[in-house]
Amino acid sequence: MKHSRVTARAHTNIALIKYWGKRDTTLFLPMNSSLSLTLDEFYTDTTVSFIDGDQDVFFLNGVEQPLEECVKISKFIELFRTQSSIKSAVLVESHNHVPTAAGLASSASAFAALGTALNELFVLRMDKQTLSTFVRQGSGSATRSIYGGFVEWQMGIETDGSDSYAIKVDDADWNIAMLTIPVNTRKKEISSREGMKLTVETSPFYPAWVEQAGQDIKAIKQAINNQDFIALGELTEANGMKMHGTMLGANPPFSYWEPLTVKVLQRIREIRGQGIPCYYTMDAGPNVKVICQADKADEIKKLLDQSFPDNTTIISGVGKDAYLLSVE
Ligand code: ADP
Ligand code: DP6
Ligand code: CO
Repeated sequence: MKHSRVTARAHTNIALIKYWGKRDTTLFLPMNSSLSLTLDEFYTDTTVSFIDGDQDVFFLNGVEQPLEECVKISKFIELFRTQSSIKSAVLVESHNHVPTAAGLASSASAFAALGTALNELFVLRMDKQTLSTFVRQGSGSATRSIYGGFVEWQMGIETDGSDSYAIKVDDADWNIAMLTIPVNTRKKEISSREGMKLTVETSPFYPAWVEQAGQDIKAIKQAINNQDFIALGELTEANGMKMHGTMLGANPPFSYWEPLTVKVLQRIREIRGQGIPCYYTMDAGPNVKVICQADKADEIKKLLDQSFPDNTTIISGVGKDAYLLSVE
């Protein structure tokens, strides 16, 4: 049946083993496999409906978006339109319950929500694995937001991208939580896409990153399998820092860090030194995320809020799969 209005929700995810670099920029094929935790607290809700005319229209947080953003969205919608007998233009109305373009993974929840909604609107009935290969072509990190829990984006080896998809590794239902310390939630100057491209093209550290990421993903899956939180945390922290190291080697060099970022990382090391296990990671932005045991989250938040009263720490539990909120 053809629907006229579909709304989907997808949660953001934070990579513990990062995706940083594409081997194919058109199909969004990554240089390495990555693994993430889906977060309950941050998400995108997106409504899609058919409209007259031949132009897709895109509203984000109630604001009609400029041409550049519409072109991006239209290219993504086209992937679904070509699979369907329906050729209509689409109105996209999206709301981010996460800061946009600040290194808190808005592109992940955004394209996972949009893809989930379009799959229904265009009556394509793709399974989640196939849908993740479509969503990948909106934003690589979105591949993983199709599922909840710990999720691996398998890089695949095919040139057509058919085996570059997400799989659920584990429900993460063993006392896992993540904290976010918002250092600066303004839009970043260098998008993830530009940052990783510059790194791949110019950083002499990049080949070492790819090799390390391959080892780290094997080790972290073992840690998850053993429910070994300490190993999981140590691998997460080390992998994130290695990714940020590649950027200092780029030409021109760049970094997403701010002075407060460094202070937050230092404080987390101190808290860990006091015997509370907690480990940090950062994406393409100055904000810090901390993986911890859920029953210790309140205690760590209290300590961080005391040290950084203007940057209130947000606790998140584990998010679930992307899903449909309503179909009319
Ligand atoms: P982030 O760290 O937030 O993922 P990125 O640089 O990867 O930052 O991606 C940000 C971009 O993702 C935005 O500039 C916009 O183009 C796109 N985006 C963010 N939210 C949405 C949304 N709800 N719907 C469609 N596109 C979005
Ligand atoms: C540092 O998925 O936002 O957050 O594929 O170009 O849209 P595009 O980039 P994006 O990159 C995410 C980079 C990261 C690491 C990660 O999420 O794995
Ligand atoms: Co992103």
